Amino acid sequence: MNNKNGWQLLEDGPEAYEKYIVPAFSGEWAQDIVGRANLCSGDKILDIGCGTGIVSRCAYHSMGKSVSITGVDVNEIVLKKAREICSPDTIPIEWKQGHAEALPFPDAEFDVVLCQQGLQYFSDQTRALTEINRVLTSEGRVFFSIWRSLEYFPFYLALHKAIERYVGAKAALTLSSAFTLGDTIQLRELFELAGFKSIQICLEIKQMRYSPFSEFLIGGLAASPFGNAISKLKESIRKEMFQLIRESVSDYIDDHGLTAPMECYIVSAGR
Ligand SMILES: C[S@@+](CC[C@H](N)C(=O)[O-])C[C@H]1O[C@@H](n2cnc3c(N)ncnc32)[C@H](O)[C@@H]1O
Repeated sequence: MNNKNGWQLLEDGPEAYEKYIVPAFSGEWAQDIVGRANLCSGDKILDIGCGTGIVSRCAYHSMGKSVSITGVDVNEIVLKKAREICSPDTIPIEWKQGHAEALPFPDAEFDVVLCQQGLQYFSDQTRALTEINRVLTSEGRVFFSIWRSLEYFPFYLALHKAIERYVGAKAALTLSSAFTLGDTIQLRELFELAGFKSIQICLEIKQMRYSPFSEFLIGGLAASPFGNAISKLKESIRKEMFQLIRESVSDYIDDHGLTAPMECYIVSAGR
């Protein structure tokens, strides 16, 4: 990645996500949410905003063919990667393009809905949650993971500062959109408004970890929506930007690379 010509952003987004973000933290969070769902044989599971499919894959690895799993995402590019990773013969998960706000399923179709870091991005969150409620069986249950606000993420705070300075306010806003639902009162109200009952919010704290840090920095940025903008920066500016990030997170770099806390709300609820 760090070749003779300097820093290069080489990977496409979904590939970089699988290569850097899944091992650094997303895979562990996916196992967490699947574990909480306490899946049973025969469950029909829906993974909303499934991306490249890490949560669906964890559910499959935990339950095998005893459950049926469907992943839905609005973005065909991430679904293409999900299909590539899971051939129907080896990991039989159904991947479907669709909007959370208008789910392409009949009423009461699923026993469990999982959604890892998707709700923040849905353009109409109340409508999406109402749709999710509609496709859930009467005994069905949902599990959402939602980051706390940016101040609880030393690494992303440093990234945000650098992106704001070197790429621009719009890109910084895109990054911070991941951290906009970290208010538990607002979260609870959203779920109540959509008709959910027995709403439980659990605060979970984990560490992100990746070694070496420089590889994660480049790879993580390649996985981000502003990877292209960063690759177009002048080499000297990009170096300066990476140096600023490294300095800002120096307290979180040890002999094994980057390790920094991440704080997340897990919301569970039923109908
Ligand atoms: C941060 S990613 C999380 C992906 C995946 N759950 C994971 O943990 O790797 C958010 C995903 O939500 C999807 N998304 C955004 N808005 C959506 C919508 N309205 N309906 C369905 N998916 C949506 C995006 O395309 C993206 O793949």
